[in-house]
Amino acid sequence: TLLLSSAGMVQFKPYFTGELRSPHPRLSSVQKCFRSTDIDEVGDRTHLTFFEMLGNFSIGDYFKKEAITWAWEFVTEHLNLSPERLWASIYLDDEEAAECWLTDVGLPADRLVRLGEEDNFWGPPGAEGPCGPCSEIHYDFGSEYGCGKITCGTPSCDCDRFVELWNLVFMQFYQHPGGERDNLPEPNIDTGMGLERAAAILQGVPSAYETDLFKPIVQRVEDLSNRQYGKDQDIDYAIRVVAEHARSATFLITDGVTPGNEGRGHILRRVIRRAVRFGRRIELDGPFLSKIAETVVEHMGRQYPEL
Ligand code: ALA
Repeated sequence: TLLLSSAGMVQFKPYFTGELRSPHPRLSSVQKCFRSTDIDEVGDRTHLTFFEMLGNFSIGDYFKKEAITWAWEFVTEHLNLSPERLWASIYLDDEEAAECWLTDVGLPADRLVRLGEEDNFWGPPGAEGPCGPCSEIHYDFGSEYGCGKITCGTPSCDCDRFVELWNLVFMQFYQHPGGERDNLPEPNIDTGMGLERAAAILQGVPSAYETDLFKPIVQRVEDLSNRQYGKDQDIDYAIRVVAEHARSATFLITDGVTPGNEGRGHILRRVIRRAVRFGRRIELDGPFLSKIAETVVEHMGRQYPEL
């Protein structure tokens, strides 16, 4: 039902619906994802079309309590993030999740926020499929990154201060194309953490573009355009668009997509055209994207030999 894998759970859909039996009730993954919904947002500091997603999954096995307490253990004891910087959000009336955060984890009540359908109900990806309420872990970069509005200060503010690091989805329903929802055969867990966001937090930088995942690619755009990143907002925006789209187009082409007028091919074509358009703004011309693709291959080919 989808053109591209937009989330870590995509390939597990038949296990959630009971159509196929999972080889194991507990799974985890690190994988390539592509979100075409965000193409026109790319260029700001936070959106990416292509990203790497880390996830753990329960097919009718563990549920909310384990997903929440293990996620907390992972971020505080393994990533070593300071607990004072962490907030959790839950779906409006999900008292079971609230109880896990407050009692099992011991999160202070003033760092738990309740958000609505738009933020804390996930899926389905596409017109129909598995979905459910979710709970997110947010990282606070500090008030110096805040927008300064009086309402700023919690993850419900949409500014750069808080970043959603990890989404824990309590996959319980199947949503049909008309919007009606049935229970799935069993409750499942689907979690997703963006590698680029985790890297930014761990490397103490405000965006993915300043992490070691993106630096060589950004630098290649700087070299080809003779522009420096971090000096001018419009130039930075264009550099980010070119770097991100060059990376995502390289991965799409590697996976067999070719530019075209429909389906996946059209998505790739949009990405390439947008990269060229923003490339012009920093006076890149000629076949510059293929040069940046070379850097992507050099930089990421060890992890993704198919590049
Ligand atoms: N499927 C969830 C997401 O993509 C984890 O955010």
